[in-house]
Amino acid sequence: MSALKTQVGIIGAGPAGLLLGHLLHVNGIDSVIVENRSRDYVIDRVRAGVLEQGTVDLLVAMGVGAGLQRRGLRHDGLYISFQGRRHRIDLADLTGGKAITVYGQNEVVRDLIEARTATARPLYFEAACVTVGALDSPNPVIRFRHGDADHEIQCDFIAGCDGFHGICRPSVPAGVLSTYERNYPFGWLGILAEAEPSSDELVYSCHERGFALFSMRSPTVTRLYFQVPPEEPIDNWSDEAIWDEMLERMTTRDGWQPHVGRIIQKGVTPMRSFVAAPMRHGRLFLAGDASHIVPPTGAKGLNLAASDVLVLARAMKAFYGRGRTDWLDEYSDVCVRRVWKAQRFSWWMTATLHRFPDETPFDRQRRIADLDYLTSSRAAMTSLAEQYVGLPAEVSFESAGL
Ligand code: FAD
Ligand code: DHB
Repeated sequence: MSALKTQVGIIGAGPAGLLLGHLLHVNGIDSVIVENRSRDYVIDRVRAGVLEQGTVDLLVAMGVGAGLQRRGLRHDGLYISFQGRRHRIDLADLTGGKAITVYGQNEVVRDLIEARTATARPLYFEAACVTVGALDSPNPVIRFRHGDADHEIQCDFIAGCDGFHGICRPSVPAGVLSTYERNYPFGWLGILAEAEPSSDELVYSCHERGFALFSMRSPTVTRLYFQVPPEEPIDNWSDEAIWDEMLERMTTRDGWQPHVGRIIQKGVTPMRSFVAAPMRHGRLFLAGDASHIVPPTGAKGLNLAASDVLVLARAMKAFYGRGRTDWLDEYSDVCVRRVWKAQRFSWWMTATLHRFPDETPFDRQRRIADLDYLTSSRAAMTSLAEQYVGLPAEVSFESAGL
């Protein structure tokens, strides 16, 4: 058994864990990151693509924004499409110059793993049998197996950044966390295709056959999604059937449609809204998907993970630098306020743009009226724009040592 000590033990090398590790590093705080998957698996996992303005600014301020600034695609607007027409929402004009940047989550994770490796601070991939214990004590522990060796890490704090299916949230004793959940009667079938994007900006389409979304990853790769039943087996969909459905739902009256190309990746993602609070138990702090999930329609999941760890890094910097514990105590309340605003926005985008299997003609007309109002009122567009580019950060970058 090898025994190690660190200041902050981080479970999970997704965006939350890696960002936190780097924010702590910048502040001279030690951490060990423990991830149960392989490096390649973590990097290759295809997930989110939209970074809020604040997430972009954070990555740049942390010194890990070079790839993002070179290859990220800045979008000043997006389209909402319904009844065969695309309506542009000018995000930059409505928010005083803010925008979103399309840069794949796997690129973000790759950049952060490179940055971590350059610091020479520990990052274990393929850790097996990961457990956390003594969460109520001043020295919580992480135990895991790596290769042939058992490890125990004594920490001052543990950050549970291990996603929705991780072990940290279930390690909190029963009765401590309140949970709030909504499941949706659909999921998203998503593809990556070798095709030049046919629009410079995203297109969210509301069609009578259901929702569809046009996005991209690079000047040569298009990313597309459409709504399917929640447990839809991907094998039900041949590539040809996927393209037929995409084109049916996305083509607008002016003839716009995505370019068709070879499908290089496909999968189905279920949709749920979930919040567990408080995001802390003793010396365990939950961050990112470990404590909340949003349906992907508002593109908020990765961005919430980033805002959580900014708040946590501020609290830890103040603890180690000045012995302050009040920001640790406030961590959950500060994050949860933002989480609920993102939950509300994601729920609204989802409910307005998707077709519900049991919806009545009334529901459908109301959804169309919602979209009609949205795309014809500057006030409504401003509300969408300020939430889509991201509400202001809860804490300043300076307070987190940047
Ligand atoms: P994760 O990225 O889940 O990272 C958690 C890490 O912990 C993982 O690397 C995992 O392997 C590791 N881990 C898990 N269990 C253990 C354990 N026991 N021990 C050690 N490590 C462990 N958001 C969008 O905005 N748009 C999208 O299109 C979108 N698509 C998505 C598709 C899928 C399939 C999923 C699951 C999520 C998607 N999201 C999307 C959400 C977004 O990707 C997440 O919000 C984001 O990844 C959250 O980052 P995180 O670090 O909190 O969690
Ligand atoms: C992408 C994903 C989203 O969930 C979204 O709302 C917009 C774009 C994407 O993968 O590019």
